[in-house]
Amino acid sequence: MEVLQVLHMNKGAGETSYAQNSTVQSNIISITKPTTEEAILQLLCTNFPESIGIADLGCSCGPNVLSVISEIMDIICGKCKHLGRPTPEFRVYLNDLPSNDFNDIFGSLPAFYNKLKEENGNGFGPCFISGVPGSFYGRLFPGKSLHFVHSSSSLHWLSQTSPPWVLDAYSLQFQKDFSLFLKSRSEEVVPGGRMVLSFMGRRSTDPTTEESCYHWELLAQALMSMVLEGLVEEEKVDSFNAPYYAPCPEELKSEIQKEGSFIVDRLDAFEIDWDGGDNICNAGTLSSGQRVSKTIRAVVESMLESHFGRVIMDDLFQRFSMIVDDHLSRTRTKYFNMVLSIVKKD
Ligand SMILES: C[S@@+](CC[C@H](N)C(=O)[O-])C[C@H]1O[C@@H](n2cnc3c(N)ncnc32)[C@H](O)[C@@H]1O
Repeated sequence: MEVLQVLHMNKGAGETSYAQNSTVQSNIISITKPTTEEAILQLLCTNFPESIGIADLGCSCGPNVLSVISEIMDIICGKCKHLGRPTPEFRVYLNDLPSNDFNDIFGSLPAFYNKLKEENGNGFGPCFISGVPGSFYGRLFPGKSLHFVHSSSSLHWLSQTSPPWVLDAYSLQFQKDFSLFLKSRSEEVVPGGRMVLSFMGRRSTDPTTEESCYHWELLAQALMSMVLEGLVEEEKVDSFNAPYYAPCPEELKSEIQKEGSFIVDRLDAFEIDWDGGDNICNAGTLSSGQRVSKTIRAVVESMLESHFGRVIMDDLFQRFSMIVDDHLSRTRTKYFNMVLSIVKKD
């Protein structure tokens, strides 16, 4: 099944929404900011366009969207000030799958434009922000129109679910998808243009390592507890395949080399707490398991709902939070994240 038919982050601003439950992803954006800053400053050393094309791929909705864009624009404006140059015209493209809550983003644009005007005054180049619905596993933008591409917490989603009976299917699907991603961007990014991509990964070359998929394993345990009570059919669990793949550094480097359009500038890795750490807004009132459950629910509920039906969702995520609490009481598991900075060849 194609992912674009079933995947969207939970919409709106309610208790289970992505907007209210994306602190882990916001922390990832903060941790990768120095890499983003370095890539943009290096881009501006060799290429100072009058009109700069910036894309955020898999932008989703909620507060992270415009905070990323604002960070990128601040870095560029700071450099312009330092050099005594006028700021360029900003063309900002926000991409996600068509079922993303683009209306949420569009609704917050007037306030964002007003803030830009207040903070930057008349010397600020015009800024045009648009939504681009579609899969990043394919062409999205006109040729050579982008200077900087950002993507956070999105590229571990594959384009489709793989048949479970083929052991290597996930790894092959990742290779196919990532290569198509690079090929598509290679046509859209100008020579010397840069991409900073961060996503879930794994240290080991073995794709079945716990590190890459243990949260899915615990979700499967929650589902199996419902099978035992006759609330979910076992075949339904067996036929659910998450279109998710956490690659290892060797796989990434090998695909980039094979595709041939980009050079790796940096590839770093870092760990991040499953529950977002202590700075999360509801850290005091919810258990770690409840926080992990809310974060994961905001991301995967649309997919689970289309397979298992809406009615089991509250029960499932309640069970999942207890299983995660039990797991975290014994071991402090963390996500392994990678951040990749690559440059388009001339
Ligand atoms: C966990 S969210 C991350 C959102 C945001 N970048 C952040 O850091 O908060 C992942 C996003 O990737 C999007 N996504 C997944 N596969 C995609 C694809 N093939 N093309 C475009 N967007 C995709 C999902 O719809 C989702 O909104």
